[in-house]
Amino acid sequence: MEGNFQEGGFTIPSKGLYPFQWKWDSAFIAIGFAHYDIEKAKMEIRTLLDAQWENGFIPHIIFHTENDSYFPGADFHRSELHPQSSKKYRSTGMTQPPVTGFVLQEMYRIAEDKESMLAFIKEQIAKVYQNHTYFYANRDPNDEGLVYIYHNWESGTDNSPVWDDIWETMNPPEYEFERKDTTHVDASQRPSKREYDHYLHLIDIAKEHRYNDDKIAELSPFLVQDPLFNAMLIKSNQALLELYELIGGYEFEKANLMAWQKKSIENFNTKLFDPELGAYVHYDLRNNRLIRHISSSSFSPLYANIPNQERAEILVKTMMDKFGGDDKYLCASFDPKSERFNPRKYWRGPVWINMNWMLYYGLKNYGFDEVAKRIKNDSIALIERDGFFEYFDCRKDNGETTRIGYGGGDFSWSAALLIDLLKT
Ligand code: DGY
Repeated sequence: MEGNFQEGGFTIPSKGLYPFQWKWDSAFIAIGFAHYDIEKAKMEIRTLLDAQWENGFIPHIIFHTENDSYFPGADFHRSELHPQSSKKYRSTGMTQPPVTGFVLQEMYRIAEDKESMLAFIKEQIAKVYQNHTYFYANRDPNDEGLVYIYHNWESGTDNSPVWDDIWETMNPPEYEFERKDTTHVDASQRPSKREYDHYLHLIDIAKEHRYNDDKIAELSPFLVQDPLFNAMLIKSNQALLELYELIGGYEFEKANLMAWQKKSIENFNTKLFDPELGAYVHYDLRNNRLIRHISSSSFSPLYANIPNQERAEILVKTMMDKFGGDDKYLCASFDPKSERFNPRKYWRGPVWINMNWMLYYGLKNYGFDEVAKRIKNDSIALIERDGFFEYFDCRKDNGETTRIGYGGGDFSWSAALLIDLLKT
């Protein structure tokens, strides 16, 4: 974390592979800093929120520096096309899961000096609230309390097999470009060239319309209600409500937050739960159908208290039956029993520490203390075995004696969230 901290007041996820500020990375990193350097934690969030657009939008990558070791960079994304984009920073025109609300609350939980942390929260909370207003006003065309994402990179689970169903409906041109990620990490651990064609094509469509949300909702072939993204929004709504309670006042904001919560939680439970699979799944809003695959995102609603106890038990049973064998570390990012599962490839199977961290607290919420303990111990064991990698093989024996940590090395959030797990 110290090594990845930058002069601009933010932390890169991993040297070489990810040389800028990423939204959800920064937020998770702040949780780690809060345990030992509270001023850095505040700085991380302050820098992130400083890049907010005039319409409340917070971008997924903030390009603080010129750096040609990453593709696609600022010149491809061209955030300046949007009339309300930041005049101070270039960024992408897409976002990432809305984690900043609950991260402010986690920072409050961790802080020893509560008064000073509350002063910081008072200074920043309006920006997070504006961000939620942006989501409900612009990303929920059917007024369901369920917001859409228009790009797989917005989900955070970049190349999940869930998206394969959508790629089948698209036929983008073959782009000519130079990949940079595969110069840092073995190609077998990264998305394919054809997947990148899809990713770039979606950005091109959005750029053609200057990142206008209405146009994107109308035209993007990728339009998905993602359970992880919406669970993070709901968790952050709850966090904002509780923080406003602590601050006092803010009746207007609290009333809006409560109304959003009611609608969002109700529709999340009716629309995104698949009783046959025993799990929450994604909804393809463009093609009006459920995408019926189980991923670690399927269990994330536990962290936001979305299911009732009975449904939480169903979720945990599904998790243990499919992901929880003794030969595996919890929790694979994709259903290990699916033919699309790949234990080495990014979000197609490997274990991610941020998901484990969320599931740990989610399981605790419902009293599944044993499973929570296992997920915590598995996370520690994986990092102890190989170091602070970006993701890990879920197989205890992968038939090789070589390492099972993959992707970027010295990965910041793996370190940050390990600190939090060790301290709880
Ligand atoms: C990447 O480049 O793979 C990033 O994760 C996109 O956010």
